[in-house]
Amino acid sequence: MQELTIALTKGRLADQTMDLFARAGYSCEELSDKHSRKLIFTNEDQKLRFFLAKGPDVPTYVEYGAADLGVVGSDVVVEENRRVYEVLDLGFGRCRMCVAGPKEAIPLLQNREMIRVATKYPEIAREYFYHRRQQTVELIKLNGSVELGPIVGLSDVIVDIVETGSTLRENGLDVLEEICQLSARMIVNQVSMQMKAQRIREVIGNVREQL
Ligand code: PRP
Repeated sequence: MQELTIALTKGRLADQTMDLFARAGYSCEELSDKHSRKLIFTNEDQKLRFFLAKGPDVPTYVEYGAADLGVVGSDVVVEENRRVYEVLDLGFGRCRMCVAGPKEAIPLLQNREMIRVATKYPEIAREYFYHRRQQTVELIKLNGSVELGPIVGLSDVIVDIVETGSTLRENGLDVLEEICQLSARMIVNQVSMQMKAQRIREVIGNVREQL
């Protein structure tokens, strides 16, 4: 049996992925210890190796072949634009990529003004504003708590993920436009897809049956 290395997105996505994998018959005892600071886990019997990485790094590990498979949000797949195969929509981690801001920003969008847009996702924001909306904007890259942008006057709007909407609500901001729907995806290294074809197809098939 060929060994498979699987990159998981640290946090809730990893928990949901492991629940799904367990249902598909791929478990990893070691991973269930929530207090552990360990980053890499193995299941010797099934020749599986799992590791936990930050979301934006998952496609990097998969592109370079450090992981054969990865599970990550579709926001990250699009933003990172790595040479990997996207093989499955796992259906969980559902949320929306949106333009959000105060209501006063609505006319700035309608008039296609040269606004400032704060985001963790500059590529998605660039594609949306420059190509889909045909609006020239100034993009400001942030690394988190993006909702602060319009509140402290750094930007007019933000491009960010909205799941329950409570972060926006609690900060007095609204969804102004929806860019796309998001969910967790399984991605595969292009060489592994050839070299470990049988094993990978089997994993994809067993996971798909549980969706
Ligand atoms: C994400 C996102 C929003 C929030 C949306 O942030 O960037 O801030 O979750 O979720 P909600 O609609 O359910 O409130 P995350 O928790 O990843 O933290 P960060 O902003 O520091 O990256």
